[in-house]
Amino acid sequence: MQPIQSLPPTFRWGVSTAAYQIEGAADIDGRGPSIWDTFSRVPGAVANGDTGDVACDHYRLWREDIALMRQLGVSDYRFSISWPRVLPTGKGTTNKAGLAFYDRLVDGLLEAGIRPYATLYHWDLPQALQDAGGWPERATAEHFGDYAAVVAEALGDRVQDWATLNEPLCSAWLGYLEGVLAPGLRDLTAAVRSSYHLLLGHGLAAQALRSHAAIKPNVGLVFNMTPCEPATDEDRDAARRADGHNNRWWLDPVHGRGFPADMREVYGVALPERPGDTETIAAPLDHIGLNYYFRQIIQDAPDLPAPSYRVVPVPEAPTTAMGWEVHPDGLEQLLMRLHHEYAPASILVTENGSAYQDEVGADGSVHDPDRVAYLERHLEAAASAVQRGAPLHGYYAWSLMDNFEWAHGYDRRFGLIRVDYKTQRRTIKASGHRYAQLIADHRTATGFPV
Ligand code: IFM
Repeated sequence: MQPIQSLPPTFRWGVSTAAYQIEGAADIDGRGPSIWDTFSRVPGAVANGDTGDVACDHYRLWREDIALMRQLGVSDYRFSISWPRVLPTGKGTTNKAGLAFYDRLVDGLLEAGIRPYATLYHWDLPQALQDAGGWPERATAEHFGDYAAVVAEALGDRVQDWATLNEPLCSAWLGYLEGVLAPGLRDLTAAVRSSYHLLLGHGLAAQALRSHAAIKPNVGLVFNMTPCEPATDEDRDAARRADGHNNRWWLDPVHGRGFPADMREVYGVALPERPGDTETIAAPLDHIGLNYYFRQIIQDAPDLPAPSYRVVPVPEAPTTAMGWEVHPDGLEQLLMRLHHEYAPASILVTENGSAYQDEVGADGSVHDPDRVAYLERHLEAAASAVQRGAPLHGYYAWSLMDNFEWAHGYDRRFGLIRVDYKTQRRTIKASGHRYAQLIADHRTATGFPV
């Protein structure tokens, strides 16, 4: 593995969050309900019946959170914009008070010398659009494009870095097929149609950003990729299907290759294609956002519905509190794969991180040696990929602070900063201090002006 110090001097050091996971203020300043407000109230959907109503109260405490980012010394902050805060029913009249929050946040970041990176959609679809059919409907993609234009008009004079969608795979497969994320449906046709309209929405949003932002936007799409390895030789076809489901189905159309033929056959669902869509979906990308957490070992499972595979554990592998294998080589492997197979101009690791049961000392300090090791090993893997030619330009740790971990509620902590949800007190964990040190050492080693 390469030392982290070998990363180029201009390497961007960031932290990531998402609106519903941290903001709280669910019914403040005219915000409309999202599918997560609804889903989190379905009995049994979220651990302990947790909701994002208050979360980290970042809507109120954002200044304090920017000050913490400064303490970490990050150059970049990736956050998401809540669509129902800006357009309470997903379309129509802009809610000025909601948009003003992001205006303040962006100004605050720039004043602090931190580069804002805005994600337009991190899973919080306005409930009114779900009531009208949600992502299985083409209109949702069109409304998403209009919403992107509103945000680009308002913030595009100061925000340069954008992601249209975060992990569309999770929205379609986990939200509409497996039912473990909002809106909690289990319907292959709805899921496949959603995947199509999510990517169409991405293309429309990319166009909107380019025509409405005052400064030339750096447009990306954030994929969560997973290396899929066969458990045995007999599982090779299943592993290829898993790769199609997790990776190629998303990357190929965006790169002008269309939806993979083998997976169209596996799903057996007609895509709602219209002339011109292929080109819209393949809007040029300025960067790829890569979120990496784990690999999957795949076993054929003809007894299961399409895509008919199961994920099996790696014997004795180290895992996080999510039960995810710790496998830093997978990050290097994916970065090299993107570089060789899709040749992006630029890649940013837009998320990488780990949940562990943190130990809080009597003095309130947080010892999280496993998270420290996870961070160091993944950064070394990233540095190796850079050494081998991957155009990786930044790394954003997931997450700035503990937050609402979707169906796991507040039970899983991914933060570099601990949040005491009773008091909203924030404490930088040992991993946060380590990240700050790595950033500072990198700057010193590369002579980058602070
Ligand atoms: O918390 C999530 C985030 O919202 C999307 N990527 C994975 C993270 C950890 O599960």
